[in-house]
Amino acid sequence: MEHTDADPVGARRRRVVVTGAGGQLGRALQETFADDGVIALTHADWDVALPPPPGLAPADLVLHAAAWTDVDGAEDDPQGAAAVNVAGTAHAASLGAPLVAFSTDYVFDGTKREPYVESDGPNPTSAYGRTKLHGEAAAGEDSWVVRTSWLFGPTGSNFVRTMLRVGGERNEVAVVDDQRGCPTYVGHLAAAVRELVDGGRAFGVWHLAADGDCTWADFAEAIFAEAGIDCRVRRISSDELARRAPRPAYSVLRSEHADAPLLPHWRDGLRECVSRLGDTARR
Ligand SMILES: NC(=O)c1ccc[n+]([C@@H]2O[C@H](COP(=O)([O-])OP(=O)(O)OC[C@H]3O[C@@H](n4cnc5c(N)ncnc54)[C@H](OP(=O)(O)O)[C@@H]3O)[C@@H](O)[C@H]2O)c1
Repeated sequence: MEHTDADPVGARRRRVVVTGAGGQLGRALQETFADDGVIALTHADWDVALPPPPGLAPADLVLHAAAWTDVDGAEDDPQGAAAVNVAGTAHAASLGAPLVAFSTDYVFDGTKREPYVESDGPNPTSAYGRTKLHGEAAAGEDSWVVRTSWLFGPTGSNFVRTMLRVGGERNEVAVVDDQRGCPTYVGHLAAAVRELVDGGRAFGVWHLAADGDCTWADFAEAIFAEAGIDCRVRRISSDELARRAPRPAYSVLRSEHADAPLLPHWRDGLRECVSRLGDTARR
């Protein structure tokens, strides 16, 4: 457990608990809220399927980034996924502080052909999506439920890092071209979350995803172009990939709140991510 509560001016800093602190979003949140007293809890520090660890100091804000994110694995073990995504969110809410709970575009069935807004009816088609939807309800009334999509960042396991690795090993990769969404850079999402919380926005459901949209195949091509990798993208259908959990064919998220924080375009996020990965590689 890392706790940074240093106090340069004598006033107590806001205590911000970050769950899932070892995940890609958890890390970005720690960077963005670094001026606060961040209590960063990894999976090893707190298994959120269990009640909060005794002795955890009261928090002023909880950023709940811990989750079961293995979408296909949730089909085999929906109860295990629910223990983390539903009970875990209830446990985070039980800390009694305003909560940011993260949810997903996978709460929608993907049959729409224009962006999903907060008032659209969810209809998840996967076990993961169902646990995340129930997790939204478990977040309680004093919460911002942030639905986001297709996260990527410089750490952890995500599509950008996978493509950079695979693209360096092969000269062709098959990528699905019949799912459309908004690839969202975790640093941009974390900044938007800070705006949501510090800007006094109302509790409730918020769609926060990158500007622009694309298919996974478009995204893969952009990743190779950005990184200067010579690898061809062969466009395939989801059926050809035959994954256990169905994914929405269309899950572009937009907000209908007039005061919703706006995120940069996914291409800007990609540029920043690839640049940060390059910096890391050069170190
Ligand atoms: N990734 C996406 O594309 C995406 C899209 C939309 C929404 N979201 C949502 O955004 C949030 C952050 O996702 P992410 O991409 O940052 O996921 P991530 O990189 O997989 O991070 C999730 C973190 O949660 C931890 N965790 C798993 N089970 C736990 C448990 N029982 N107790 C405590 N920690 C546990 C994981 O630790 P271990 O690895 O050690 O198990 C990991 O550090 C999640 O709510 C996710 O559902 C993600």
